[in-house]
Amino acid sequence: MTRKKIALIGGGQIGGVLTQLIALRELGDVVLFDILEDMPQGKTLDIAEASRVDGFDSNLQGTNSYEDIKDSDIVIITAGLPRKPGMSRDDLLVTNAKIMKSVAENVKKYAPNSFVIIISNPLDAMVTLFKKVSGFSANRVMGQAGVLDSSRFSSFIAWELGVSVKDVNAMVLGGHGDTMVPLVRYANVNGMPVMELLERKYNDAAKAKEVMNAMVERTKMAGGEVVKLLKTGSAFYSPASSAIAMAEAILGDQKRVLPVCALLEGEYNVNGYYVGVPAIIGANGVEKILEITLDDEETALFTNSVNAVKSLVEDMERLGF
Ligand code: APR
Repeated sequence: MTRKKIALIGGGQIGGVLTQLIALRELGDVVLFDILEDMPQGKTLDIAEASRVDGFDSNLQGTNSYEDIKDSDIVIITAGLPRKPGMSRDDLLVTNAKIMKSVAENVKKYAPNSFVIIISNPLDAMVTLFKKVSGFSANRVMGQAGVLDSSRFSSFIAWELGVSVKDVNAMVLGGHGDTMVPLVRYANVNGMPVMELLERKYNDAAKAKEVMNAMVERTKMAGGEVVKLLKTGSAFYSPASSAIAMAEAILGDQKRVLPVCALLEGEYNVNGYYVGVPAIIGANGVEKILEITLDDEETALFTNSVNAVKSLVEDMERLGF
């Protein structure tokens, strides 16, 4: 069996962690592309020189030439600027749309059969643009947001309840912005509703609600919380890990059920927009979008989030992308 080839477009903070995680797990050989001269070469050399210590045989190549991503199986895109304190993800629209357009043209040219995972922000708009420029089928183009947002939500729940995060299942749907929708009603610890566990912990339904609301709000603002602390950029360890979970699901045909930014074609009463929803991820990429029942309140929140995505995409189109 030949090794899988994974191209990483963008060799900054997330690109570096992605390279190391792929090497440590020996998921395949890596081509790390960046427009900055020598930087991706330096980063891959640094990580590769630990191959003996870490015990991996993956080839790691840094490059400034798109030709080197030829025939990649998976492409993970982080090219673009990250947020600085005080910025919203949407503030990155114009700059990152220009970058994404050129990335999509080159991925289409050199890796036309790849599965593509996009991390660049504003996420939902960037995935939409990539799909439009590349013309790739919908199952091959997806965005990473929900895996991370759900991991953040799950972490907060585990810390609050003092339980292993491995037993927490909690999901975040909608766009990757302030309107995202952490699904409280479905959140559970090994099948037990989180709300019931909170009510028992505090012996007070109102207090339990208050604690959950705080976790929901923290989840929605979690990216900004990290940006504020880092001061020089945005989160990079957790987004990289989240994209790796998606890549592993594709490479291993795992049929994982993950919340991903996927093209909706009638599901959830949305047509033609990329939004975060649960989907089965396997060898064919986004193999099936799973529809779950949302109650009135959840539907209202989801619709609000979809509307935010729509208006961002319309802004982008008005700008000529
Ligand atoms: N092609 C390829 N790479 C590019 C291009 C381009 N046209 N333009 C910029 N880059 C590279 C930069 O040179 C930089 O090395 O993208 C890299 C981005 O890295 P960082 O600035 O460190 O940003 P990072 O933290 O990795 O986040 C990347 O992911 O989560 C999102 O909001 C975040 O949009 C941002 C992206």
